[in-house]
Amino acid sequence: MWSLIQHLLVGSLAVWTAAAEISFVVEATRDNGTVDISSELELVKLPPRQRWQHGSRHKSRPPPSKGGKRDVVSFSGNWCGASQHSTPDNQIVNAFSWLTAPDLTLRPGQPIPQYVAAWVGIDGAACKQALLQAGVTTVVNSNGGQSASAWWQWYPESSFTIKGFPVKPGDWVTVNITALTATSGKISLVNANQGVEASITVSNGPKLCRIDAEWLIEDFYDSDMVQVPFAQFADAWFLDAAATTVKGTKIGIDGAAMVQLQNENGTIVCHPEKWDNANFVAISS
Ligand SMILES: *[C@@H]1O[C@H](CO)[C@@H](O)[C@H](O)[C@H]1NC(C)=O
Ligand SMILES: *[C@@H]1O[C@H](CO)[C@@H](O)[C@H](O)[C@H]1NC(C)=O
Ligand SMILES: *[C@@H]1O[C@H](CO)[C@@H](O)[C@H](O)[C@H]1NC(C)=O
Repeated sequence: MWSLIQHLLVGSLAVWTAAAEISFVVEATRDNGTVDISSELELVKLPPRQRWQHGSRHKSRPPPSKGGKRDVVSFSGNWCGASQHSTPDNQIVNAFSWLTAPDLTLRPGQPIPQYVAAWVGIDGAACKQALLQAGVTTVVNSNGGQSASAWWQWYPESSFTIKGFPVKPGDWVTVNITALTATSGKISLVNANQGVEASITVSNGPKLCRIDAEWLIEDFYDSDMVQVPFAQFADAWFLDAAATTVKGTKIGIDGAAMVQLQNENGTIVCHPEKWDNANFVAISS
């Protein structure tokens, strides 16, 4: 009898494990919603050697000894942009922004290829266990040629490149991240220049805290925990940046940490300049 119970227990645990695996459904259209192209998109799980770690290794750096005093400025070794906080009694449901697909030029004296990622996410800062994010990464090679690609990731799960989603450097893209529950969400990307939309509905993701929203440019790490060379880029605007909460509050970037990216030698290579509560620009330096 005991062995039967054990057997049943093991059996149901196996079922529970299988049911908890992350899963998702992709839908896509082009020509502003008129043509279904869901079958043309392929979500490519990045192999371990290329599993980019967007946002997951954020570490703060002390402020540089020189430099002007500013309000709510913080420094990071990989982030540049805005990180906003809510409270556990008013959790974040949605984070949204327009952003420009990074448009790059080579940074002199650095290895090539060079990269810049731009993304929107929920839970990049205080929540250590999960981060739901999506955006566009651009790479520039030795002759100045660029290629951009859209991606999403529910950290610590692997990131997926959204192959077949057309995006060029400088295109205007909306990124809309919704936490339907702590473990399910919907990611929607619209490339307004190309008239293409993709949405990914995800189930059984790692449990979110839903207490932060981020709008960021990133010098991310590869899977060997080596930071990729960071390119220079055209002004990268984030427009209509907002997070909404369970109580229906709309939070902008007022009061957010405005994060400057300081490289290993202490040089600020990107800093955000706030325009107003909903709009800021990340500037390459
Ligand atoms: C999509 O709609 C916008 C605005 O209505 C228009 O400017 C654009 O040309 C359209 N794009 C496509 C691919 O149909
Ligand atoms: C973002 O997506 C959610 C869920 O689909 C939707 O309710 C909301 O209106 C979208 N926000 C914007 C600004 O498009
Ligand atoms: C930091 O300085 C060293 C020594 O000058 C240089 O080789 C390296 O490329 C610099 N790193 C960055 C990211 O600029």
